[in-house]
Amino acid sequence: MEIRLEKLTKVFTDKTGKETRAVDDLTITIPSGKLVGLLGPSGCGKSTTLFMIAGLHKPSGGKIFFGDDDVTKLAPEKRGIGLVFQNYALYPHMTVRQNIMFPLENLNIGRDEATKLVIEMAKLVGIEDQLDKKPAQLSGGQQQRVAIARALVKKPRVLLLDEPLSNLDARLRLQTREEIKRIQRETGITTIFVTHDQEEAMSISDQMVILDYGVQQQMDKPQNMYNRPINLFVAKFLGNPPINIIEGKVVDGKVFMGDNIQIGTRKAKDGAYILGIRPEDFRFDPNGFDVDTQDIEHIGRDTMIRFVVGDVILRALIDSDSVQGQKTIKLSVKAGKAHVFEKETGHVVL
Ligand SMILES: Nc1ncnc2c1ncn2[C@@H]1O[C@H](COP(=O)(O)OP(=O)(O)O)[C@@H](O)[C@H]1O
Ligand SMILES: [Mg+2]
Repeated sequence: MEIRLEKLTKVFTDKTGKETRAVDDLTITIPSGKLVGLLGPSGCGKSTTLFMIAGLHKPSGGKIFFGDDDVTKLAPEKRGIGLVFQNYALYPHMTVRQNIMFPLENLNIGRDEATKLVIEMAKLVGIEDQLDKKPAQLSGGQQQRVAIARALVKKPRVLLLDEPLSNLDARLRLQTREEIKRIQRETGITTIFVTHDQEEAMSISDQMVILDYGVQQQMDKPQNMYNRPINLFVAKFLGNPPINIIEGKVVDGKVFMGDNIQIGTRKAKDGAYILGIRPEDFRFDPNGFDVDTQDIEHIGRDTMIRFVVGDVILRALIDSDSVQGQKTIKLSVKAGKAHVFEKETGHVVL
């Protein structure tokens, strides 16, 4: 089911009357059956957005639609949502079976039907052999699967996940993230996945939304957003190692990095700009510009080179075969890969 947010806004006011616009005029459409990653730094309004969709926070303005239904004022329990939080929030004294069954308690469902549903969910998340254990006997990853089973047992219309992997160690995080993707695909449930981790969002999302200070920056498929960031914030937020940022200029359609290194062409007004170049978008090129390498680090089949332009240290990730420890090497920027941003607004020049 499609979810549509229309000018959704949440303003918190503290005791002194100071206002925080946690979510500011957010208008997005989450397509039916897709997994959309809601991404941004801590405090950018991700949880607040999710809690408004869940009905746990009342919006200060704007509307929320599930399909054609305006649910803005609907009570949380009537929205048909499943929620999963960072800290699994399982009942410690209950078995896994009882935890998953719990949301069905107040529904008019027979014992047999409930048992069937619990087993169906346990199978879906791959914990059918753990049903008689207590949560404390499970790993973090397994506990989070129980929480997902519990969220799905009522067959919600929407699944909302708030940093569900943040409490897991690196290996479990990767594994559980793949599991969530599989479960989402199998059930086809419209899902919003909140995270501050760009790599996590990039790997799991059909589409991503990036927020900063409650304001939507960009919404697109992860790879499109990575390749065509709309502004400096998005460019810097995505990518590890991060994008290189350096001052530059455009003169007669030629793009210069620093004062005088031409790295490409772009139709843009003459003037000073901020350039963004991803480390992997440099390449070894006998006709390129000279750089004095400061540091060379071999990472598998790639080599990371650090070099200085003006007073900025840049990183280039290039094919190892082209570097044999020479001090000076020649680089160029791959065609069309220099991102040009307006100095004042940080907005990309298209
Ligand atoms: N209940 C609340 N009362 C006051 N301010 C809040 C409350 N919840 C969140 N905020 C503020 O709203 C902003 C967004 O918070 P939040 O949605 O939790 O961010 P995120 O989940 O992206 O880390 C932050 O500045 C936070 O301090
Ligand atoms: Mg949060």
